[in-house]
Amino acid sequence: MKRELRNARVLLTGASGGLGAALARELAAKGARLMLTGRSAERLREVARSVETSTETHILVADLTHAADRKSLVHSCFDKFGGLDVLINNAGIGARGLFENSSPDVLRKTMEVNFFAAAELIRDCLDLLVNGENPIIVNICSASGRRGFPVRSEYCASKFALAGLSEVLRAELAIHGIDVLIVSPGHIRTEFHKHFIANTTQAGRTGRMHARGVPPEQAAAKIIRAIEKGKHEVVFPFKIWLTLLVNRLFPRIVDYFTARHCKRHYAAESNLHKQGTAG
Ligand SMILES: NC(=O)c1ccc[n+]([C@@H]2O[C@H](COP(=O)([O-])OP(=O)(O)OC[C@H]3O[C@@H](n4cnc5c(N)ncnc54)[C@H](OP(=O)(O)O)[C@@H]3O)[C@@H](O)[C@H]2O)c1
Repeated sequence: MKRELRNARVLLTGASGGLGAALARELAAKGARLMLTGRSAERLREVARSVETSTETHILVADLTHAADRKSLVHSCFDKFGGLDVLINNAGIGARGLFENSSPDVLRKTMEVNFFAAAELIRDCLDLLVNGENPIIVNICSASGRRGFPVRSEYCASKFALAGLSEVLRAELAIHGIDVLIVSPGHIRTEFHKHFIANTTQAGRTGRMHARGVPPEQAAAKIIRAIEKGKHEVVFPFKIWLTLLVNRLFPRIVDYFTARHCKRHYAAESNLHKQGTAG
């Protein structure tokens, strides 16, 4: 179903930088009414200043891992807009390194932000969305939520969980006419890697991959088009779309190459030894 974003009431998480800031600008240009949230008040104010002045824009500082902060976001949407049409779960964190070198804390923190916070914010917003105009939930997942890639176990697990929940909700919420869009991008040119909560592996490598990624403005434009067109999922860039297609048809080929990549690049980082081989 086609969707008109002019005057749509949008709650956007992770709006204080990167993809979120680009989404805020793109949505404002479409004439949407915005509730922008993140933990950094200063960066949220900067983003709000950079969006079109003709649009209604509010900011609210919130840590999405706190239930009270999520509730206050929902109350603010009701107070300022009288309801909600679009919820975009964009806030996210990452970590990098072999699973064996990571910790329970990294796993829990990643799941807390990327999955539990997004899932509970959806639950909190349902009463508003069900009364919204052509409502939609947009979950910014990742290509890593459709195929496991090495040295990002926690991140992949959290994004797989979010993609799984999204598919279930797409069916359940169809009862109420609420759409669910899954966004599964490859690398985007943001500072995501600089905010990693842990990085126990070749630090420079991730930065280089992000630097070669899709510009955030281009990614935001693709996501907005998908919202307008009522798509169920958007995957970009093309090489990631192709990788996921090959993975779906011939998963063992991707298994082979990812295992080969690990043996070549990460064997030296492993501290596991077969009995009798420890140096
Ligand atoms: N960059 C990529 O290559 C890439 C690829 C695929 C998917 N993605 C996904 O795209 C989304 C945006 O990432 P990005 O690249 O724009 O990275 P980013 O610049 O690091 O942005 C992450 C955003 O999440 C917010 N955030 C983190 N923890 C939070 C918390 N506890 N409570 C509230 N907000 C929190 C941050 O705001 P504060 O610091 O102000 O709290 C920030 O606005 C993420 O979900 C990411 O997984 C990124």
